[in-house]
Amino acid sequence: MRTQVAIIGGGPSGLLLSQLLNKAGIETVILERQSREYVLSRIRAGVLEYGAVDMLRKSGAGERMDREGMPHDGVYLTDNGKLFRIDFVERCGERVMVYGQTEFTRDLYKAQDDMGAIIIDRAANVALHDLDTDRPYVTWEKDGTGHRLDCDFVAGCDGFHGVSRPSIPDSVRKDFERIYPFGWLGIMSETPPAAEEIVYARNRSGFALASMRTRTLSRSYIQVPLTDRTEDWSDEAFWEEFKRRMAPEIAETLVTGPSIEKSIAPLRSFVSEPMRWGRLFLCGDAAHIVPPTGAKGLNLAASDVHYLYEGLKLHYLDRDDSGLDQYSQTALKRIWQAMRFSWSMTMLLHTFPEASEFDRQMQSSELVYLADSENAQKVFAENYIGLPF
Ligand code: APR
Ligand code: PHB
Repeated sequence: MRTQVAIIGGGPSGLLLSQLLNKAGIETVILERQSREYVLSRIRAGVLEYGAVDMLRKSGAGERMDREGMPHDGVYLTDNGKLFRIDFVERCGERVMVYGQTEFTRDLYKAQDDMGAIIIDRAANVALHDLDTDRPYVTWEKDGTGHRLDCDFVAGCDGFHGVSRPSIPDSVRKDFERIYPFGWLGIMSETPPAAEEIVYARNRSGFALASMRTRTLSRSYIQVPLTDRTEDWSDEAFWEEFKRRMAPEIAETLVTGPSIEKSIAPLRSFVSEPMRWGRLFLCGDAAHIVPPTGAKGLNLAASDVHYLYEGLKLHYLDRDDSGLDQYSQTALKRIWQAMRFSWSMTMLLHTFPEASEFDRQMQSSELVYLADSENAQKVFAENYIGLPF
């Protein structure tokens, strides 16, 4: 089997890249380790920067998002009960779209099917070969049979635990990492959202986040110690703690209900450089992880895909390799900016076990500044809606 671009991973990065390339007349094959049902059952964040919104539209898969997604003009923040709002449109003239990553992925699968794209799921033992030559190839097994795919390029879109990043030799790769000393316990409930926009709450007992998927489906989180397990948290205990951390006016009107999903996720900042080695290009979580504060994960995947797509288009349509040659540098510049923003939001809003009274006062002072200063709000808004790409 032969293709132009072999794409490892059928998550949002791999699907968006494939969809855009196919539309430009460039051939792809996607190899996904899991079944499609499994990929579509994963619950992830739900905020799209306007740049990611434009990408989904450009790929031809944006119709349902435009119909069902919820444009948000701002967010709320609360510090120990005091609530304030940052208006993105007023500060920066743009908004974000609340639309679940699972739905984003589902729409891309459908668009790929409609185009007759080749997506091979349940591909086991995927291995990348001869990446530093101009004839790379990929092997895998499916239902006990071995297969080989020859290609021009490999796009490593296989997430944090994939095979692509480890295929870059250790002597070439440099990893940067910070692990945070807490996790997020998240629940999905068939209840109306706590507020009409997302609420990020800081409280002495920890961080909480009120988000949503639709007008009748809420996604709510609280910061918990890494040693906690979901079994330790009944729905009642979750809501009680969630209310304690929210502003009183939100807690008072909150409608609670049974969770339909409950999970704990650790928080990590991670970047691996470079994002290109020979004919391999890393995209999305394969190269970087952000803590979810700021909801940048999927949005960074979208900007990586943008740069790689433009580079591959230049290569195939104009015989110009400058986009591919600059891919790693260009993508990393934006990634480090989003790393900084999600790190700073994480530091600002969480309770750190080792924090002193002084540290806590600094968090509060920064939130007072953010509540009072239009300039500070503009900086926050500019980062939250997403830096341009
Ligand atoms: N072979 C083939 N596929 C693999 C392999 C492998 N060895 N390892 C992982 N995969 C698949 C996973 O099953 C998954 O479907 O690659 C896909 C990677 O998808 P994601 O982890 O969703 O990563 P990405 O597409 O870059 O999307 C980034 O999704 O993970 C969130 O928070 C993240 O929002 C961010 C966005
Ligand atoms: C979510 O809706 O799941 C969500 C929203 C905002 C975040 C993280 C997650 O910062």
